[in-house]
Amino acid sequence: MRDRWSSQLLFVLAATGAAVGLGNVWKFPYIAGENGGGAFVLVYLGAIALVGMPVLIAEVLIGRLGDRNIVDCLSRLSQATRTHRLWRAVGWLGMIAPFVILSMYSVVGGWALTYVGYAATGKLDAPAGDAAGYFGNLFGELVASPGELAAWHTLFMCLTVWIVAGGVRGGLERLVRWLMPCFFLLLVGVVSYGALTTDTFARAARFLLSPNFDALTVGSVVTAIGHAFFTLSVGAGAMLAYGSYLPRKVRVVQACTTIAVLDTLVALLAGLAIFPLVFAHGLEPSAGPGLVFTTLPIAFAQMPAGQAAGLVFFALLSIAALTSSPSLLEPIAQTLSERGGLPKRRAAVAVALLVWAAGIVQVFALSGRFDLDLFGRNLFDLSDHLASNILLPLGGVAFALFAAWMIPRDKAIGGLGSAGAGFHRLWRFAAGYVAPAGVAIVLLTGLF
Ligand code: TRP
Repeated sequence: MRDRWSSQLLFVLAATGAAVGLGNVWKFPYIAGENGGGAFVLVYLGAIALVGMPVLIAEVLIGRLGDRNIVDCLSRLSQATRTHRLWRAVGWLGMIAPFVILSMYSVVGGWALTYVGYAATGKLDAPAGDAAGYFGNLFGELVASPGELAAWHTLFMCLTVWIVAGGVRGGLERLVRWLMPCFFLLLVGVVSYGALTTDTFARAARFLLSPNFDALTVGSVVTAIGHAFFTLSVGAGAMLAYGSYLPRKVRVVQACTTIAVLDTLVALLAGLAIFPLVFAHGLEPSAGPGLVFTTLPIAFAQMPAGQAAGLVFFALLSIAALTSSPSLLEPIAQTLSERGGLPKRRAAVAVALLVWAAGIVQVFALSGRFDLDLFGRNLFDLSDHLASNILLPLGGVAFALFAAWMIPRDKAIGGLGSAGAGFHRLWRFAAGYVAPAGVAIVLLTGLF
């Protein structure tokens, strides 16, 4: 008997946990603000609905119908065709994306854990005069010390492998059952804190939501599509693996819609949590790690109960990362376990060790201990670019094309569950044509 989710709700919770992650908290608010606020949000919603969702449904459908790991799913479902071997190869290639992403995700997740420690030990209490310099140094020193980075990365990987090794019910479900409600509570808490202690909430809402179509470019559209893949956790086989553990009676379309809506909601709320604090202290909304690890602490250091608020915020960030990372280990561990006849626990540990080693290489690249300059980027940025702008869109489009064109109509309709034939046509059009077109735009603009 295969391990299975105990209900549709638990699947939705786990998949939402996988979707809601670092991407929602530090990436989305910034790119939305930069690319024209509400105008970008509209494009982003379009990208989620027309590209992200169809691919998400495709992945879950393949997993559910194939009822095994990625390689076997693609292989089984294409059994009757001449392209059978090709699809099996696609399955194996699909292991690269989660591997690369996890090796970096764990390092950044380690930063979040480090900052929980900082908040708890009063290190986020900066001298009043030069808070910006203090936090710049604090983060700079962390990133430049391989020992410290490696230690937190190791802790993060240990937690991740512990969850995955516990299996679907004993690990993942037990984790998300209490961490996801906890996450939503903390998020509402931080949003309320910003709304109550600052008078910049309205300005933050405007920055994030009022549409400025002038700031919208072709680049914004590409950013929106690329981020749709990352934030919904599609293109790496993660949702395929989660979908393969679905029990019989599940409404795939409703479940996937809930996941996408919750993920988007969290992204918007994260913006409404972060920007009031940033604006209230006259700070600049900067990109990525800079925003949460160097800018935001300046605000916390100057706010009432800022240390406690900082602790809550970084706990929130750590939880977001910890409910996402298992979804990256799962597809590889699952494949190794089922194809190699290994117990899941051992497969998870073996894969985690390899990912851990790759993460250590990232740690050294980050700290500048060896300057690997590839195509003008360091290893960390290069892997990030490779994963989000190339591997995920390619993986996603492969799953979408497979689900749309290789799975017979009746089987697909049965797998989608209760959505009916009308929805199947709509979904197949999106997965079979619209999503591939979107990916083509991303890849082509990436090349030129
Ligand atoms: N979606 C997560 C985030 O927003 C990251 C993530 C987890 C992911 N699992 C994934 C991205 C699988 C791509 C594929 O932070």
